Amino acid sequence: MYDFRPADLADKPALYAELLAAADALTDGERDPVANMANVAALLGEFLPDCNWTGFYRMVDGELVLGPFVGRPACIRIPLGRGVCGAAAASGTTQLVEDVQAFPGHIACDAASRSELVVPVLRDGLVIAVIDLDSPDLARFDGQDQAGIEALAALLSRRI
Ligand code: SME
Repeated sequence: MYDFRPADLADKPALYAELLAAADALTDGERDPVANMANVAALLGEFLPDCNWTGFYRMVDGELVLGPFVGRPACIRIPLGRGVCGAAAASGTTQLVEDVQAFPGHIACDAASRSELVVPVLRDGLVIAVIDLDSPDLARFDGQDQAGIEALAALLSRRI
């Protein structure tokens, strides 16, 4: 049994340092990508307050396909360039959206979502997946969240 608990929700750099250490410990030496994404989705759900969806979309044959997540059932396939996830996958860059209703083409999987952070996972310069975080709060995510999730994406580059 694993019992990783975030120590200080208010100290984001410390929170992400712990999250990264936990993700490293859980995925180190495990070759199964689904198992690793499932455990990291669960960690994200447990560590990050005020999120209603935390998980992965994988790049499969040129489109995003739903991966392991914590949250409500979500849309299964997202074409490149569509919505926040599709924008991150098409550009290979993080999308930090303070108000999803102001984002052209945002895909509302859960009507409660108000802000979103999507970080691509790159391997050898190619997008292999995206990490998607949704929150029911406006402007829930900031540069510290972005830096933390980008570090997580780098860690997972060869583990998913
Ligand atoms: N809102 C996302 C779709 C995925 S769900 O949030 C889980 C988007 O616009 O890409």
